[in-house]
Amino acid sequence: MKIKNICCIGAGYVGGPTMAVIAQKCPEVNVTVVDINEQRISAWNDKDVENIPIYEPGLSEIVREARGRNLFFSTDVDSAIDQADMIFISVNTPTKTYGIGKGMAADLKYIELCARQIARVAKDDKIVVEKSTLPVRTAQALKNILDHTGNGVNFQILSNPEFLAEGTAIDDLLYPDRVLIGGDIDSDEGKEAVNALVDVYAHWVEKDHILTTNVWSSELSKLTANAFLAQRVSSINAMSELCEKTGADVNEVAKAVGMDTRIGSKFLKSSVGFGGSCFQKDILNLVYISKSMGLNEVADYWEQVIIMNDHQKRRFAANMVRTLFNTVSGKKIALLGWAFKKDTNDTRESAAIYVADYLLNEQAEIVVYDPKVKTEQIYADLDYLNTRSSEENRKRVTVVNSPYEASRDSHAVAVLTEWDEFLKLDWQKIHESMLKPAFLFDGRRLLDRKTKEDIGFEFYAVGS
Ligand code: UDX
Ligand code: ADP
Repeated sequence: MKIKNICCIGAGYVGGPTMAVIAQKCPEVNVTVVDINEQRISAWNDKDVENIPIYEPGLSEIVREARGRNLFFSTDVDSAIDQADMIFISVNTPTKTYGIGKGMAADLKYIELCARQIARVAKDDKIVVEKSTLPVRTAQALKNILDHTGNGVNFQILSNPEFLAEGTAIDDLLYPDRVLIGGDIDSDEGKEAVNALVDVYAHWVEKDHILTTNVWSSELSKLTANAFLAQRVSSINAMSELCEKTGADVNEVAKAVGMDTRIGSKFLKSSVGFGGSCFQKDILNLVYISKSMGLNEVADYWEQVIIMNDHQKRRFAANMVRTLFNTVSGKKIALLGWAFKKDTNDTRESAAIYVADYLLNEQAEIVVYDPKVKTEQIYADLDYLNTRSSEENRKRVTVVNSPYEASRDSHAVAVLTEWDEFLKLDWQKIHESMLKPAFLFDGRRLLDRKTKEDIGFEFYAVGS
């Protein structure tokens, strides 16, 4: 079975880049990305590819090449579903904010709406691919909806979890460590569907990098991979606090530990805490699933990764207050970076949001500079916490276009995202424009201590 038309529901951080790469690598396949968000779709269709809604290095060039050829962005969900042989579901699955499982379970209402829409529209057999990060057994729920409300057509459900990391999405898609495809491999129809998707990826990924499993293994592998990665960050962050108390240096420890080939060097960078749309959500999912199956020890084990991460964010902010003579009330504090990591404009669960919230509770005046995050996003992130009114957030937080403007007349500067441009700033000039003593807090271990102390900064970095 050869796939000719692909539809992807959801034009976000996952759907957008993934479909752009599939379209680039499979010129004979038509790829249509649909979304109910009209603004988002019109940004994807903007004449100037630099205005697409997602910032990701290398993405705009691919969109320029494929858009209008075999890559299309549209709000007409029904006709894209109708024409497709294969439908990717790539909608958001936030943590539930209400009802049973509030604050833990994934909210599957967007997935369910998609399934119902596919069931309503489809007139011929379709392969439905779950791409969003989902709790284990979602495929079964999808299948139930499709089989019971469909127009008598056959659906094959595949799980094809996304392993791309934001900021490196294009490279991760072009040169994946592995592609994972889960399906009903015990049946001939299931195998055929799996192979159809294998053929899509085989346009650019070597066959031995494409793994096929049953659906449950595939779904659980995604949660497991993210839980292991987040656990490494929490592990090194736990050691960072011990390093600060003992005179050890977390970078030296990470290097020594990481050179053990059994451990490896990646994901041992101590930070102000991990963020992003996946780690926290996926671990909470894992905890919720474990608890609901009565596996309390398993749930507690993974929950500790989140507890450690929350502690790291709070600890960083508390240390700022303590260092600034136990009060930041009325003091101007500059935050450099708002995105959850460099090279993305995504701010979901970014540590910066929580650090800012903590400092605002201590009555600080916050000024934010981030090279890619829009002002309205910063306010929306703070408003979402519901800690104070949105008028109050707008009054107490200023967003500026330059790091120099942010730091002027401030008591302290905190680096919260590891943007490369922060390395090249004129730190002498920043120091001169600040109130003295000028405090500099490095939440990313980005800056060189010696040169900053020579300039005259009171310098603090996580883990030393
Ligand atoms: C993650 C997974 O890496 C990816 O495979 C999955 O598909 C989605 O979730 P992402 O959230 O985009 O990707 O970014 P990632 O690079 O994993 O970073 C997550 C957070 O951990 C960031 O806030 C980052 O700054 C932090 N981090 C990462 C550290 O603090 N230290 C590290 O050593 C690595
Ligand atoms: P991710 O990081 O998983 O890609 P995003 O929030 O960036 O998450 O993207 C998900 C997209 O899915 C959003 O643009 C949202 O508007 C879209 N979406 C959600 N539900 C539907 C739906 N039923 N039909 C079409 N698009 C949807």
